[in-house]
Amino acid sequence: MNLEVLNGLLKPKSIAVVGASATPGKIGYTVVKNLLDSGYEGPIYPINPKRDEILGLKAYPSVLDVPGPIDAAVIVIPARYVVQVAEECGKKGVKGLIVIASGFSEVGRHDLEDALVSTARRYGMRVLGPNIVGVLSNSDKCNASFAPILPLPGKASLVSQSGALLIAMDTATYTRRVGFDKLISIGNMSDVNFADMVEWLSQDENTACISLYIEGLKDGRRFIEVSRKTAKPIIALKSGVSAHGAAAAASHTGSLAGSGKVYEAAFQQAGVVHASDLNNLFDRTLALSLQPPMKGENLLIITNGGGVGVLATDAAERYGIPLRFAPEDVQAELKKHMPEFGSAKNPADLTGMAGREWYEESVEHTFGHPWVDALTVLYCETAMTDPMEIAKAIKAAVDRSGVTDKPITVSFVGGERSERAMQWLVEHGIPAYGAPDVAVNAIAALREYALTHEAGQGEFHPYADVDEAAARAIVAKVRAEGREMTEIEAKGIFKAYGLPVAQTILATTEEEAVKLAAQIGYPVVMKIVSPDILHKSDAGGVKVNVKNADEVRAAYNEILANARAYKPEADIHGVAIQEMAPRATEVILGSINDPTFGPTVMFGLGGIFVEVLKDVTFRVAPVNEAMAAQMLTDIKGAPILAGVRGEKPRDRAALAEVLSRYSQMITDLGDEIAESDANPVIVYEEGQGVKVVDARIILKTK
Ligand code: ACO
Repeated sequence: MNLEVLNGLLKPKSIAVVGASATPGKIGYTVVKNLLDSGYEGPIYPINPKRDEILGLKAYPSVLDVPGPIDAAVIVIPARYVVQVAEECGKKGVKGLIVIASGFSEVGRHDLEDALVSTARRYGMRVLGPNIVGVLSNSDKCNASFAPILPLPGKASLVSQSGALLIAMDTATYTRRVGFDKLISIGNMSDVNFADMVEWLSQDENTACISLYIEGLKDGRRFIEVSRKTAKPIIALKSGVSAHGAAAAASHTGSLAGSGKVYEAAFQQAGVVHASDLNNLFDRTLALSLQPPMKGENLLIITNGGGVGVLATDAAERYGIPLRFAPEDVQAELKKHMPEFGSAKNPADLTGMAGREWYEESVEHTFGHPWVDALTVLYCETAMTDPMEIAKAIKAAVDRSGVTDKPITVSFVGGERSERAMQWLVEHGIPAYGAPDVAVNAIAALREYALTHEAGQGEFHPYADVDEAAARAIVAKVRAEGREMTEIEAKGIFKAYGLPVAQTILATTEEEAVKLAAQIGYPVVMKIVSPDILHKSDAGGVKVNVKNADEVRAAYNEILANARAYKPEADIHGVAIQEMAPRATEVILGSINDPTFGPTVMFGLGGIFVEVLKDVTFRVAPVNEAMAAQMLTDIKGAPILAGVRGEKPRDRAALAEVLSRYSQMITDLGDEIAESDANPVIVYEEGQGVKVVDARIILKTK
């Protein structure tokens, strides 16, 4: 994408306000006033056919009457007039439209929105919105919005899909002490979307951390791609993760995917840090915008109070960075700065006697130790100490330690003096919070950021030994016959992608069944093959452990009789004779075609793990073997694959390859496959491989 084009929207050198008004209380008045109040230095052109002057500025009847060039036009006239104005803007050579007006796709007027975008495209203009609050930028002294004020200056930039939330966060930046350079309202995302914003902000010199409030992404795959390339931390709060859409899902995987799990996976793949709620978004944004990532696992906590130390310890465990005791030399150092009855373990309790000096020295002499990967300093306000003094001591110690590549967070618990001290700390680049668990959560965000980046999602190199044409031929046959795909056909597609399916061959007569069973080797499994019977067991259509020719004959006839009784009109292809895979650990692979992210793969352990505990993990496909291996460790049941209670480890390498090949299959055939699963897949001991026992593919309706 040409990022320059977006400069017209986000760093405009001149702005027209179409619908500027002289009437206080109108949005068209507020936008002009905000531009003036924020100290915007470029020319502001109010556009209003009925007025010559607005708020002391010369007004023009149309953008076409403006003498100079216009970078951005802020549009605050009713929706029905917007397309006409966009046309005029295009003729004028405006670069970007900031469309504040509501009344477009959000109320069903897709026609108006489409017309707006197509007009803009015709003239090479970009559109922000419609249905937005506008754009605010401290570094450009530009409040092109109807939000009250430029936010507290800082190094983060926020992009919000909700306008109301952006307004609320704007003033809250002051009370929450979290600074932002830009607040960008993105609204209906008719043209400019989150991926564009991430791409643009990643090269914006005034943005150190990209903070997102997302209700739904439009171009999920590009968002992942762009975010993954970004060298800056990205944090997202995603709302609306309810089980929307799950009810309509035809497969198991579909119903498991409804609960926001696909977004969770996509964020992880994109290297996006997760925020759990609005407070958390503020708190984590502060840390991510001020501090470097936490590259190792060891967090050292220094405190003057046992209680807050314990709270921080609990939080560390809760947020995935459990504390370890500090090594001897770190403890020896800490002991120099505490009384006899202090504790030098971790948390290091300097005790209530701790003053400026102990804080200063313990921070200075431990922060640089190679064992320490991050520091959280806690302080409870005491009568003998001045919080501001402690704050300054911490900052001085950090500076003297010379450490710049490890993060530190602080929590002061106390009254107004502590509040002021924390404000001072934040102003000096150290994130400070009113509660110990919040300071630890902020460090955990920096750890998550490091981990998602270390994980290095890596490139996916497609397997060359697959036969996509053979797979497509099977799909074409099923489509031509206008029916569901049978298990044997699904397995044919799996096989074309090198997946180890249990040998399964169709028998259409009793004699053939006997012959095939002998060929495959006893015992065998026999299953009904009918596109009209997908739940084979329910129809009495499955016999396992069939041991000899007589049993094959009996089973063959019984299965057919059961199937005919179950569904007399069913189109019966015959009976599948299948090798009976020995039992071992059962897992399930599944796929959906997610509306936002496209083909998405799921993995979990079989049986109750998936049915009851829903212990599954997702990734947007395709996944390479390294990422597939990560999926195997994601689930709570991971130790079962690693080998518990003396059992040998399962063949995780073979399973990772199967997952990776499967993900390629659903990606290559993403235009055809709606959902699929392999259930069960049997995983044997290390070196013994994997067997796909049952496979199902549901085609997209076209
Ligand atoms: N060119 C220039 N000026 C025009 C044009 C035009 N084509 N047409 C009308 N105007 C003038 C009007 O004469 C008026 O000026 P005046 O005050 O001197 O009479 C001014 O532009 C505004 O037009 P109005 O018809 O008075 O429109 P109004 O101000 O009532 O509403 C608005 C316009 C604000 C765009 C409204 O339609 C709207 O969409 N409101 C919702 C906006 C919103 O909330 N967006 C964010 C959503 S996110 C959230 O919820 C916070």
